[in-house]
Amino acid sequence: MTDLLLRGRVLSFKSRPNSIDDIESYSYFEDGAVLIRDGKIAVTGDYLELSGKESGVKVIDHRPNLILPGFIDTHNHLPQMQVIGSFGAQLLDWLNTYTFPAEASFEDSGHAERIASAYFDEMLRNGTTTTVAFCSVHKTSAEAYFSEAERRNMCVIGGKVMMDRNAPAGVLDTPQSGYDESKSLIAKWHGRGRGHYAISPRFAITSTPQQMEATQALFQEHGDCYMQTHLSENLKEIEFTLELYPDAPDYLGIYESYGLLGERSLFGHSIHLTDRERQAMADTGSVAVFCPTSNLFIGSGLFDEKATREQGVPVAVATDIGGGTSCSMLRTMEEAYKVLQLQNQNLNPLASFFMMTLGNARALSLAHEIGTLESGTQADLVVLNSRATPGMELRMEVATTLSEELFVLQTMGDDRSVVDVYVSGVPSHPSS
Ligand code: GUN
Ligand code: ZN
Repeated sequence: MTDLLLRGRVLSFKSRPNSIDDIESYSYFEDGAVLIRDGKIAVTGDYLELSGKESGVKVIDHRPNLILPGFIDTHNHLPQMQVIGSFGAQLLDWLNTYTFPAEASFEDSGHAERIASAYFDEMLRNGTTTTVAFCSVHKTSAEAYFSEAERRNMCVIGGKVMMDRNAPAGVLDTPQSGYDESKSLIAKWHGRGRGHYAISPRFAITSTPQQMEATQALFQEHGDCYMQTHLSENLKEIEFTLELYPDAPDYLGIYESYGLLGERSLFGHSIHLTDRERQAMADTGSVAVFCPTSNLFIGSGLFDEKATREQGVPVAVATDIGGGTSCSMLRTMEEAYKVLQLQNQNLNPLASFFMMTLGNARALSLAHEIGTLESGTQADLVVLNSRATPGMELRMEVATTLSEELFVLQTMGDDRSVVDVYVSGVPSHPSS
């Protein structure tokens, strides 16, 4: 494989930026370059320095665009690509009216394969190179997800949902079949190529205590797998959940009693939490996943990022397609900004870009592989144009700093700003 040298304005984070002036938190090369060798980043630095040392490399000139680590989406639903923009319902009605019927179709492997291919195209078109997905209850959908990711050499996490009650028969498994099918998917896909398995009890409402026990057994038997579920998204959901588990101290306490907390445990939404729940998450390193477009669209509530982070809970960000309304992490961070504005919390644009990249990589315990442009990590990259539309071009005429430019990208940008995307060093934009 010929070495590739990508030239452009190169930006990568080292830590969470505390303010728009926190220049220690990132590295930025105005005329920079990323040298890619065998699918990995060999060196990131100054173009003139790197090009002087390297001969026989193929140079791709992306100037004046920005080169960043590819975006990471830490929570979404593969079988909900055709649920996006479903009108007029909050969580439980939305699930029953739109989502469960759409997910029932994924028993058909042809349908699952077609949507999986479209899903990854859409993710890549938006600059997302790693995704964490809930598949449907059917093994076929997880097969389609992992096969398609493997074909594209993408780093992904996912699993079939486990759900054995409070939904139509077409989307239910049983404690035994959910256990058996998850187990065989783990054996086939976990650790194969760049794939990781997430044991995925959908949420406490759709799992009986017997299924939660099966989930616990799986997680104990496969400690290096992830666990993903939903937590405290909607007030009616919380009320119903506590009716189903009357002995639990609170919503998180249910998952806790089945041993499901930990550094590889991802809790989607985590909006209406008590201090006790946040403390238990902090103590175990469990991750709260903020899904702003979904929380606004389904009318679930406002995620308290400041309280969550200040109590020591790792926070990730995600689209939550198809409760969420866009596969774009840029659109997602625009809405994150607004959700926090409503609570007098300012999310600075450097912190937004940190969250989409290194922040999410850390939340997934994958920062050694993705989320930065450090030597030795995988060459998953996105190339961004801050002047992709006439409106952005006009706005950029008066932007003077890097953080201002990032804020324009986050506020006005979408897939039109994604000029190119590289997966393991290979150009992978669907139009390329
Ligand atoms: N809670 C349980 N399942 C789901 C889902 O598919 N989407 C959202 N937003 N919340 C959920
Ligand atoms: Zn979700």
